[in-house]
Amino acid sequence: MTSDLIADLVVILGTGGTIAGTATDASDNVGYTAAQLGVAQLVSAVPSLAARRLETEQVAQLDSKDMDFATWQLLAAAVARHLARPEVSGLVITHGTDTLEETAWFLQRVLAPAKPVVITAAMRPATALQKDGPQNLLDAVAVALDPGASGVLVAFGGSVHSAGQVRKVHSYRVDAFASADGARLAAVEEGQVRWLARLSPAEPPLGLPAIARPAAQWPRVQILLNHVGADGGIVRALLAQGVDGLVVAGTGNGTLSNALEAALREAQAQGVRVVRSTRCDAGPVTSSADALPSAGASGPVKARIDLLLALLDES
Ligand code: SIN
Repeated sequence: MTSDLIADLVVILGTGGTIAGTATDASDNVGYTAAQLGVAQLVSAVPSLAARRLETEQVAQLDSKDMDFATWQLLAAAVARHLARPEVSGLVITHGTDTLEETAWFLQRVLAPAKPVVITAAMRPATALQKDGPQNLLDAVAVALDPGASGVLVAFGGSVHSAGQVRKVHSYRVDAFASADGARLAAVEEGQVRWLARLSPAEPPLGLPAIARPAAQWPRVQILLNHVGADGGIVRALLAQGVDGLVVAGTGNGTLSNALEAALREAQAQGVRVVRSTRCDAGPVTSSADALPSAGASGPVKARIDLLLALLDES
């Protein structure tokens, strides 16, 4: 028997952010409070979305600087639940810009969805004179309905980025995201998605059981930086506090001062997992047998997610 069910439903999950933020003065682009409007209000502010088959669910309501593991667990479970519905074409997640790339990479690693999960956000609050949220939301829905889309994607400022490549590259500009070490995947122009690059084949998903442990018991993985005069003090302070993993954002190709490297090797000898990334905006850290393990092409925050997930898997 053939099914005539059309997968044309987009579920929009709200988590807060500036896209849902409000200020008392429309000309104030920075003195606002994030995460004030519900996701249903964001949708109703875009009249042309009334022509789409949409559902909304408020999963969280926070400023994404405060995103946490428990909210990630809730979000991943909600995403998986809606993706399993045959009538769903894809999902949109409204999020803050500040940690958007971390949530994108986390969801990609855990779920590696075949259907599109499109994260969007805004650099200006919903009350601003030049608000960018409504257009970004409209574009994200177009991507979620596009037959060429799959995996966790970011739709922002008329561009589509993969979860692996996307980085917030500007603290104020409306065009705040870029594919840091590759091409943007697509442009969204007047509701049309114009693909510019092929989607890379995804690694298999880790699955929800991989993140089932209570959030308070997740490994402690910290990020630190090499810089002029870097010594081992921070590493030793973290060891004294208790830490399971360290991601060091080295200079250039993951280079470390002698003192910092010595302290990291002490940490490694004590059973702490150490990974070397780069503080450069893009590019890999090449691996070598006598150096601390490389994060490959993952920047520090995504390398931290990889290490967190590896440690969850091992324990
Ligand atoms: C946030 O990340 O939640 C606030 C900042 C933003 O969305 O631009």
